[in-house]
Amino acid sequence: MKFNPAKAIQDLKQFGEFGGVNPSITDSSTYTFLEGETMEETFLGHMEGCFLYSRHWNPSNKYLADAIAAMENTESAWITASGMAAITCSLLQLCSTGDHIVTSVTTYGGTYAFLKNWLPKFGIEVSFVNITNLEQVKKAMRPNTKVIYTESVTNPLLQVSDIPELAKIANDSGAKLMVDNTFTPMIFSPAELGADIVVYSMTKFINGKNDCVAGAICGSAEFVNQLSNVNDGTAMLLGPVLDPLRSSGILKNLNTLHIRMKQHSKNASYLAEKMEQHKLTVIYPGLKNHPQHNLHKKLMNNEFGFGGMLAIDLDTEKNANRFMQKMQQAGVGYLAVSLGYFKTLFSCSGHSTSSEIPLDVQKKMGLSEGLVRFSVGLDNDIEETLERIRGCLS
Ligand SMILES: Cc1ncc(COP(=O)(O)O)c(C=O)c1O
Repeated sequence: MKFNPAKAIQDLKQFGEFGGVNPSITDSSTYTFLEGETMEETFLGHMEGCFLYSRHWNPSNKYLADAIAAMENTESAWITASGMAAITCSLLQLCSTGDHIVTSVTTYGGTYAFLKNWLPKFGIEVSFVNITNLEQVKKAMRPNTKVIYTESVTNPLLQVSDIPELAKIANDSGAKLMVDNTFTPMIFSPAELGADIVVYSMTKFINGKNDCVAGAICGSAEFVNQLSNVNDGTAMLLGPVLDPLRSSGILKNLNTLHIRMKQHSKNASYLAEKMEQHKLTVIYPGLKNHPQHNLHKKLMNNEFGFGGMLAIDLDTEKNANRFMQKMQQAGVGYLAVSLGYFKTLFSCSGHSTSSEIPLDVQKKMGLSEGLVRFSVGLDNDIEETLERIRGCLS
C-alpha cells in the first residue's frame, strides 16, 4: 500500500506523563541524574531515552521530531529553530572544505545566499543548475560532489523537481539528495521518492499560524546522530534549538495539516484556473500548461492537491506593487512575505524573498520583476476572494 503521511500522523500515540492528551511541555534546560555514570553514558550517546541538556534533546522537541519523522517515513528527525538552521546545519554536516554541491539555481533567496556567498568562504564549491534539466545536473556532477540540493517545488518559480531521477544521479556518484519540501508537506513524500534528507521551514504550512519560526531535518538515524553528536554535530555545536513551548504548539498544528493542505490546494487551484481564463500569465503546477504538470501528478500523494502556492506575472515591479496594495485594501489578504498562513499572503518575489539573487541571475532563470507570488489562504468563500482580485486588476 502507498505510504500516506496523514495516516502516519493519525496513527501516532503521544501523550503526557500524567495522561494529558497533549504531551507535557518541557520547562527545563537541564536534567537530573541519579548516578554520575549514567550522565557520562548519556554524553557519549549510549543512553536512549535519557535527556541531558535541552540544546541536545528535550522531550518536547523529541515528540515533534518523532511526528515529523513519521510524516516523512524517515528513521529519524531533528527539530531546529528555523528553516535556515535546518538547511545550513545539514549542508555543513555533509560537506567539508574541498567538497562540491550541485543546486537548483531557483531556491529560496536565503538558501541561494548561503550557497553563493557563505559556503565558498570555507572552500565548499557550488554549481547552480536548472534543476528541471537532468542532463545539466549530470554534467555538473564532480568526483567531490557531496550533495544535490533542490526544493520539491521551487521558490518562487514553482518548478517541480524530479526527485526519483535526481536520487539516481546522486546515488550513482555517491552523493546525497537533499530536498526542501517546505512548499508541499504531505503533497510530496520526498524520502519515499528517494531523497536522503528532507528539510522543512516549519514556519510555513506545517505550523500554519505565522506565530513562530522553526525547522526540521528528516533522515536516517545515523545522520540525525551525526547532527547531534557532542563532538562534531552541527545541530549540537551551532545550537539552533527550538523552544519547547513552540514545538508543542507546532505538534498540535501538525494534526490539522492534512485538512489545511487540501483546502489551500483547492483554493489555489480555483484561483489559478480563473485567473488563467482572465488571460493572466499564471504559474501553478495544477494547470495543464505547467511544464511539469504531469511529473507533479506522477509523484504527488493524490488527495492533497497541487499546493497553495501560485504566481502571476505582471511584467513590472510597478504593476505588481499597485496590484498588491489594491488587493490588501480590498481584503484579499496581506502584502507580506512568508507562506502557509490561513490568510492569503502575496509579495513581489524579485524584490523581496528572492532579492538576494542578483538581477541578471533572476532574469536568466526566468524570474520576472513583476512576479507576484501568492500563498493562498484557507478562505471559505474563494469565489468572493476571486471577485475582489478581479476588482484589483483594472
Ligand atoms: C522554501 C523555503 N525554505 C526555507 C526557508 C527558510 O525558512 P525560515 O524562515 O524558517 O528560516 C524559506 C523561507 O521563506 C522558504 O521559503
